[in-house]
Amino acid sequence: MTEVKVGYLIGSLARASINRKLAKALVRLAPTEMKLSEISFAELPLYSYDYDADFPPVARAFKSALADAEAILFVTPEYNRSIPGGLKNAIDWASRPWGQNSFARKPTAIIGASTGAIGTAVAQQSLRSVMAFCNSPLMNSIEAYIQFKPGLITDDGDVTNEATAEFLRNYMAEFYGFIERVYTAIPRPHSPAA
Ligand code: FNR
Repeated sequence: MTEVKVGYLIGSLARASINRKLAKALVRLAPTEMKLSEISFAELPLYSYDYDADFPPVARAFKSALADAEAILFVTPEYNRSIPGGLKNAIDWASRPWGQNSFARKPTAIIGASTGAIGTAVAQQSLRSVMAFCNSPLMNSIEAYIQFKPGLITDDGDVTNEATAEFLRNYMAEFYGFIERVYTAIPRPHSPAA
């Protein structure tokens, strides 16, 4: 089985983020072939196309980390029935300058946790249309809407409910398979054919 480098973006900037706990759990439950690392966007200024001619170092570093990843996983809360503004700002940076869209042909998947029963479904639907515009092959299924009850996942990413752990393990295995299928159709980044 092939190793795959996956960068993950956590939509929340909160110190006690339940989506950060979820991300830690996903790192622990992923197939060993998946090498996961967080791509932070916390230091990005608000995007404007005035930057397009000369991106600041923090934005160059962000785009370089995206380029280095073979696939991207979004782990995001739902804020006001959409994705958090900070995450949308990061996506806008990633999509520019024109012709250098970091998401083009890059496999992505979306998962999220909220305290409400809807489990980020509306935010994910919104993010799906954004990623479609960004020309990313996006995993359609399995969908994963996690309602976070207190104690479901510890600060270290230990999932306390075995059925949830199994679901998340399966989700990551499915994402791995999806990435591999995408790269049977298009060249991997950094390969001579890319
Ligand atoms: C929320 N929350 C929320 N939950 C939800 O299911 N749908 C929603 O639209 C919203 N809207 C919303 C807006 C704002 C500004 C906040 C701060 C919160 C509740 C949300 O699910 C809860 O705060 C989670 O803890 C957010 O995830 P993180 O940030 O802890 O990872």
